[in-house]
Amino acid sequence: MKKIIKNGTVVTATDQYEADILIENGKVSAIAASLNEDADEVIDAKGAFLFPGGIDPHTHLDMPFGGTMTADDYETGTIAAAYGGTTSIIDFCLTNKGEPLQNAINVWHEKSRDKAVIDYGFHLQLTEVTDDVLNELPGIVENGITSFKVFMAYKNVFQADDETLFKALVTAREQGALVMVHAENGDVIDFLVKDALQKGNTDPIYHALTRPPEAEGEATGRAAELTGLADSQLYVVHVTCQEAVEKIAAAREKGYRVWGETCPQYLTLDQSYLAKPDFEGAKYVWSPPLREKHNQDLLWKALKNGQLQTIGSDQCSFNFNGQKDLGKDDFTKIPNGGPIIEDRFSVMFSEGVKKGRISINEFVDMVSTRTAKLFGLFPEKGTIAVGSDADIVIFDPNAERTISASTHHMNVDYSAFEGMKVTGEPISVLSRGEFVIRDKQFVGKPGSGQFLKRKRFNSNLQLSEEKATQ
Ligand code: URP
Ligand code: ZN
Ligand code: ZN
Ligand code: ZN
Repeated sequence: MKKIIKNGTVVTATDQYEADILIENGKVSAIAASLNEDADEVIDAKGAFLFPGGIDPHTHLDMPFGGTMTADDYETGTIAAAYGGTTSIIDFCLTNKGEPLQNAINVWHEKSRDKAVIDYGFHLQLTEVTDDVLNELPGIVENGITSFKVFMAYKNVFQADDETLFKALVTAREQGALVMVHAENGDVIDFLVKDALQKGNTDPIYHALTRPPEAEGEATGRAAELTGLADSQLYVVHVTCQEAVEKIAAAREKGYRVWGETCPQYLTLDQSYLAKPDFEGAKYVWSPPLREKHNQDLLWKALKNGQLQTIGSDQCSFNFNGQKDLGKDDFTKIPNGGPIIEDRFSVMFSEGVKKGRISINEFVDMVSTRTAKLFGLFPEKGTIAVGSDADIVIFDPNAERTISASTHHMNVDYSAFEGMKVTGEPISVLSRGEFVIRDKQFVGKPGSGQFLKRKRFNSNLQLSEEKATQ
């Protein structure tokens, strides 16, 4: 099967040019000003941008949390991702203390295998680093799970101690993996939460007030210092505030291999959403929480100047009715997280590129290329080049629409971005050369997504080369 996409504008992390793209056997096989080969199919992309498929480095699909399961599983979640221009995700595989890690990985393969419509990889959660874990990890890394996740928060649930974090960092250096942290000081938060409840402060806004930005800054700085000490590499997920950005920037100044991700919700929504009446604030409960508005500008600037590098959705959806309301009388029982996987790409294009905050090449870098480089997927993923997978988004940059739960494809009863007007929309999306979305309709097949056996951390990745365009 040969396909040609004609007359589009190819945009990568470094270039923008008009060209035709030839696709054969799922790969880009030629790019030229004009291709006149015989093809089984010619797709006209006049007026459209051709972006490399989005890569979402941070999703939680079919995951148990707070006594319930996320509303989206691998089928609904990856269909929604594809509608939104994302063709690869890396999802978090949760593990259980004292059990072989491989058991947890098998569970995640079961969740995904017959359901995913786009390609997917796993990060492995580490709650402890015992001798058994150390014996198991080399084989797991060899099998393409080349990033470890350590939670510094969620005391008595997911939280790991500093010894575990440090051992994870040392092991990651030895094995060629990347350590990811959820950086908040879980012990301090636990104290503040108990204090709030004791005073009868149970509304959703107290979720934010008991998880102050200082707790995020402290944990971020601690993780960064331990990374320097271990001569290892660190990726800080969902960075929300000045206190954390400063710690990442300072670490990078010292030459520590530290990278940071933020999410569309922290760039566009703020803490006041948690104070919405009638418990509606529960829709906006994330950890770390939405911050005071002044942080938004700072996060955009950090993305622009390279202090932060990637955009994750932190997709972790729970219905407002029947799930979020578990915390009606106690904010600590509100399941944390929200539905973002479908909107990550478009919100970044609209709020970022269209509003002049980032360039179009920086946009591609943040939503795709950089993640591919950091997580062992480049150059098969993350760019449009001869030999790379034909994961391509045909994107209308001028389409105007309003985000709403009534039109989204996530399996959840609200949108965090309800009523937001965005410019730009994915029209068709190809995964390894096959349409998953065609003219805004899902045409893919559950089970067509492949597990991404990722390469080891690329130790040649230099902090200073990291900026796509200077
Ligand atoms: O609130 C959030 N972020 N939920 C998902 C789990 C996590 O901490 O990433
Ligand atoms: Zn987290
Ligand atoms: Zn502040
Ligand atoms: Zn998360």
